[in-house]
Amino acid sequence: MRRPFRRLAFLLALLAAHAAPARAGWSSIGDVSAVEPLAQGVLLRAGESAVAATALSPQILRLRYAPDGRFPREHSWAVVRRDFGPVDAQVIEAADHVDLLTSGLRLRVERAPLRLRVLDADGRRLVVDDAERGLSHAGAAVRAAWRLDDTDHVYGLGEKTGPLDKRGRNLGGSHYAMWNTDAPAWDASTDPLYVSVPFLLVLRGGRAHGVFLDNAWRSHFDIGRDARGLLQFGAEGGGFDVYVIDGPDPKAVIERYTALTGRTPLPPRWALGYQQSRWSYTPEARVRRLAETFRARRVPADGLWLDIDYQQDFRPFTWDAARFPAPGRLLAELAAQGFHVVTIVDPHPPCEAGYALYDAGLAGGHFLRRADGSLFSGPVWPSQAAQHAADSVFPDFTRAATRAWWGEQYGPFLDLGVAGIWNDMNEPAVWGTPDGTLPADVIHDNDGEPADHRAVHNVYGMQFSRATFEGLQRLRPDARPFVLTRASFAGGQRYAAVWTGDNTADWASLRQSLPMLMNLGVSGFAFVGADVGGFVGAPSGELFARWLQAALFSPFLRAHTEARTPDQEPWSYGEAWEAVNRRSIELRYRLLPTLYNAMEEAARRGVPALRPLFLEFPDDPASAGRDDEMLLGADLLLAPVLAAGATQREVYLPPGAWFDFWTGQPLAGGSTHTLAVTPESVPLFVRGGAFVFLQPVVQHTGAMAGQPLTVQVYPAADSRGAQYEDDGASLAYARGGFARRSFRQHRDAAGIALQADAVAGRYRGAPRALRFALIGAATAQGVELDGRALPRRDGEAFERASAAWTVRDGAVWVSLRDRRVAFRLFVRTGAMP
Ligand code: GLC
Repeated sequence: MRRPFRRLAFLLALLAAHAAPARAGWSSIGDVSAVEPLAQGVLLRAGESAVAATALSPQILRLRYAPDGRFPREHSWAVVRRDFGPVDAQVIEAADHVDLLTSGLRLRVERAPLRLRVLDADGRRLVVDDAERGLSHAGAAVRAAWRLDDTDHVYGLGEKTGPLDKRGRNLGGSHYAMWNTDAPAWDASTDPLYVSVPFLLVLRGGRAHGVFLDNAWRSHFDIGRDARGLLQFGAEGGGFDVYVIDGPDPKAVIERYTALTGRTPLPPRWALGYQQSRWSYTPEARVRRLAETFRARRVPADGLWLDIDYQQDFRPFTWDAARFPAPGRLLAELAAQGFHVVTIVDPHPPCEAGYALYDAGLAGGHFLRRADGSLFSGPVWPSQAAQHAADSVFPDFTRAATRAWWGEQYGPFLDLGVAGIWNDMNEPAVWGTPDGTLPADVIHDNDGEPADHRAVHNVYGMQFSRATFEGLQRLRPDARPFVLTRASFAGGQRYAAVWTGDNTADWASLRQSLPMLMNLGVSGFAFVGADVGGFVGAPSGELFARWLQAALFSPFLRAHTEARTPDQEPWSYGEAWEAVNRRSIELRYRLLPTLYNAMEEAARRGVPALRPLFLEFPDDPASAGRDDEMLLGADLLLAPVLAAGATQREVYLPPGAWFDFWTGQPLAGGSTHTLAVTPESVPLFVRGGAFVFLQPVVQHTGAMAGQPLTVQVYPAADSRGAQYEDDGASLAYARGGFARRSFRQHRDAAGIALQADAVAGRYRGAPRALRFALIGAATAQGVELDGRALPRRDGEAFERASAAWTVRDGAVWVSLRDRRVAFRLFVRTGAMP
């Protein structure tokens, strides 16, 4: 009985082994037939196919696979840097395998058949080819199948619906496609959306590594769905070009991924303030009234947005003369009240002879044509114009000359005082075509190697926002451009902020915005936000208020709604909600120094300002799937209320000491707390040892100069903090025009020693008071500045004193004039010696 069974098992195994190549036309790579050296790497031939492995740094490995043995030209829309200096990479050949070794990674290639395995310096597995499938291809499509461990968590993939952990609940897993899509009224099950980022981060036993598929074709990521132990991913063309990036700290993975693909530049400070938008504020009298209402009701705001109806017949770079007869005057008046105005600019000029942009674009060969040479045109907004309705043409933003030409067009807008540009519809959306975008036979320049639309679809929006960003840069070389884009691709963070498109005014959409924005950050996009209140439909007062509270940490904070909805401003829901909304926006402005710090870190290191818990607590299993809470920087935790009529909020605090921001009360980490909540509640917590930087409420960022800076110092035996400032507008910071100061505290039985280092950098802000609030020190016997006793002044006298201390709200406060030199405070809490 046993023998036939064994034979059957053998036959079954044989069948399974051969089933893989047969599966839907996929053929797996065969045996290694030749091994050739490469600079910092090795080339492996397997019959017709080839695999090239190169070490870009000790922690970054690039793996390319060409089924036909021919690698495409060296060109990437995403990667801007591959040279990280010489790497000591060794190739060791053995009978059954070939190793490529760096000080941080080991690539082992089994020869028969060719199978890959990447291990870190400690021998932990980062990549393990599925024994059965390996790399495979079907025609021009390529695919990898890598093993997943049962406990792996998978994050990233940019703008995707569903939970933060893409492995999904109960390891069910998910399947995502990358194909930029205009998806109006998307919900939690919609895929794909507007932005494609084929990058993911795997957290395996507290250690992280990244996988980036550098391919702009339609691609797919099956994260344990079809086979629960497999990550299967690949693209429909364009070759296999993958970067494996070790951490092991997840922040280090993002740092290295953004070293490859670039980082979010430091935004102008006003763009971090509150932005008010709708489709559309028009005519100009309504915009004026809006501005006046913000100031009269004392709701802080920095940005007012003009949607498509400011234009003449929806034509890019025009103004509707009836609705906006004197845009320059309007913008100057608004600027005098501290407002910045952003205008939408879509990528689809209508074809109408006599319209200057169309004529010039045609003459310059800037518009896309089909394979047969005919100009492509299709309906988008201009086809709906009341007069002169016409189909649109589409500039070829994959062509350098076209990007430069389009970029110049912003000149007159900047001259009028437009402060930023909003690029929309750039998937691109084309109505009436089978899949809502350009047909496949439209030919693009593709940076000098013409290709059809399939090869560049996913970068069209990114290259549009690049044309805008670079155009603004050329027009105002010392200003920080502000660009918002709907569509983008990996690396697009270099050019524009991203918002999550046409979400819906419901609680599910609010809830979904948290993991979506956090995964965008994990995927390199640090400047992100969702339409507050929801775009489609109209929120209740409660939903709008909760959304605003939940967006406290959104780097990009904008309320926006579709055409013809009721008013959706902070005061639109009655006085009680207005007070709640004012308080939320005021809190945002108080926290701006901390947010600015976090955005500077994102610009410098790529680590996002808005962070999922796992980024700071990779070893904490309970943090791994938590996506209804978020961090700003390393130390502030927000657990917004996300349900209608809530009276309670369950909050998980990761391991360590935590404090309630509002009361200063300590709370135990590594546990869940149930809080009673009211409509006003913004559950906000601070990690022990944190330095939190606050300013008083201002009505807009232009009013920040000279405001006192408060440094809250949360208890820890020892901790450090740092603050970054600059002029908030120019590029002087890149030439040393910044001010960075490090702080350090030490607490023991005698007291609290606080060291402030001298300010580094040449930026000098307006004179101001500097205040320290030492949380958890409710008593003090005395405070010394550089060894000299400071006077105690209470109540009003403290406010007026130039150097004094007091005790207030359970904290010791110290006030000084700010200074650039180093100084030391000592708060004596213990017994006198
Ligand atoms: C698109 C955008 C939306 C905008 C509208 C009109 O739907 O996503 O934000 O308001 O077009 O321009």
